[in-house]
Amino acid sequence: MDSYDVVVIGGGPAGYVAAIRAAQLGLKTACVDAFERGGKASLGGTCLNVGCIPSKAMLDSSEKFEMISHEAQEHGIEVTGASVNLEKMLARKAGVVDKLTGGIAYLFKKNKVTSFFGLGKLVRQEEGGWVVDAAGTEVLAKNVIVATGSSPRALPLAPFGGHIVENSGALAFDAVPGKLGVIGAGVIGLELGSVWRRLGAQVTVLEALPGFLMAADAAIGKEALKQFQKQGLEFHFGVNISAVTQDDAGVSVTYTEKDQEVTATFDKLIVSIGRVPHTAGLGAEAVGLGLDARGFVQVDSHYRTNLPGIYAIGDVIGGAMLAHKAEEEGVAVAEMLAGQAGHVNYDVIPWVIYTSPEIAWAGLTEQGAKDKGLTVKTGQFPFSANGRALGHGDPRGFVKVVADADTDRLLGVHMIGPNVSELIGEIVALMEFGASSEDLARTVHAHPTLSEVVKEAALAADKRALHM
Ligand code: FAD
Ligand code: NAI
Repeated sequence: MDSYDVVVIGGGPAGYVAAIRAAQLGLKTACVDAFERGGKASLGGTCLNVGCIPSKAMLDSSEKFEMISHEAQEHGIEVTGASVNLEKMLARKAGVVDKLTGGIAYLFKKNKVTSFFGLGKLVRQEEGGWVVDAAGTEVLAKNVIVATGSSPRALPLAPFGGHIVENSGALAFDAVPGKLGVIGAGVIGLELGSVWRRLGAQVTVLEALPGFLMAADAAIGKEALKQFQKQGLEFHFGVNISAVTQDDAGVSVTYTEKDQEVTATFDKLIVSIGRVPHTAGLGAEAVGLGLDARGFVQVDSHYRTNLPGIYAIGDVIGGAMLAHKAEEEGVAVAEMLAGQAGHVNYDVIPWVIYTSPEIAWAGLTEQGAKDKGLTVKTGQFPFSANGRALGHGDPRGFVKVVADADTDRLLGVHMIGPNVSELIGEIVALMEFGASSEDLARTVHAHPTLSEVVKEAALAADKRALHM
């Protein structure tokens, strides 16, 4: 039986990064991953295959279509007859995914990570480590890293199948649905709802809670709702879904809203109500791996499970289900196994929602800071007062800075507007270094750039914005 210092189960952002980092640090490493796309092994997990990457490819394609069809005229560009070739758009998306998933296979080779394609299963503990069934081959692992990710949560009333789809199905409709229903106004609902609306679908979003974007600053949620409704997305909040039926023609959803029972019919229905940890096939029960009540693998602050030598990272341990959080945990656990001090700063994990306008934030919301007993000051600055945003033709949204009123330390920054997915990087770096709003306000920002709005919001926190 071959033996390894580290066997990683799962080749998504958590697992593949852990494997590469472990190998870089001189540990003999293998990774076993079961993801299959088009009948072939495809590394990169949910993120690269059916998540982050294909959704962003479709967001970009659909945004270009929207730009050409509706916004180009404002720039003096006359376009007639723009139309969507969905087959080609989906093929481009698949090409982007192929390039990136193939890239991981290349990185594994380059770093001498042994790759197994198939299920990885914990079998038994032995002298020297754990026996892992790696796609039918038993190997001995001194350390095992479980990085098996998550799966879409199904609505019991509406199991996936036919016209009822989860993220993979929603990224691969073979025609633009005339009427698209979305259950759940979370990140997937907003992003994929936006894609299909731009391509021509009439989109209705049904959300159980009285509002959405509950983790974002309240000011961002309010602005986002205004912008999305203006685009034609229809939202129903506080709904209780009581029945879902489907036939060849489509799906009927019956729900109660403000004590009124309504039945709506759709051609397709996306169910995006969160994700659940994926431990099926892992052999968790057989070896006694500790899971919590919701099925997440339980770990301590060093990613140690209840079993010696077995670690877990990524979506399967819960917390923010984000690729960059998963990746950082991959680096941290590999470094710990190599005797270094791996660390993830959970206080500064950026969130980005790639709608139009984009939404991004890091750190505490104004309310979250107040709930912690902190005295806060805030500063807000709109993109409508920024030369670059006006030049772009997209002056929607604003940046809001939340700082400690006593120490001036940056507590959180919240953005809605053009390209804020890129602007948030500066904030994350500053917060990592414990910067104050004064530090941000005094940093030179190139002119004319969107980033000047970030600086002005910091100036506004001290009531000295220059351009407003
Ligand atoms: P996964 O990516 O789920 O990878 C787990 C891997 O393990 C899979 O390949 C799986 O097949 C494999 N596996 C499971 N069990 C076994 C087993 N027993 N043996 C072998 N292999 C196994 N996050 C962002 O940060 N930004 C985004 O823009 C973003 N967009 C998203 C869009 C969508 C539509 C979705 C669904 C998710 C998105 N996410 C995004 C979330 C992101 O995809 C996840 O947080 C990330 O993939 C988690 O990484 P992971 O490695 O923990 O798990
Ligand atoms: P989510 O947790 O973002 O949102 C789920 C929504 O569904 C919530 O608003 C919830 O209140 C609602 N809901 C739950 N049960 C419901 C019911 N019975 N009826 C109506 N509404 C109901 O989950 P989502 O959108 O499925 O995404 C899963 C995760 O994937 C995200 O939390 C995020 O971690 C990750 N993701 C990240 C992206 C990014 O970083 N840009 C993009 C897409 C996904």
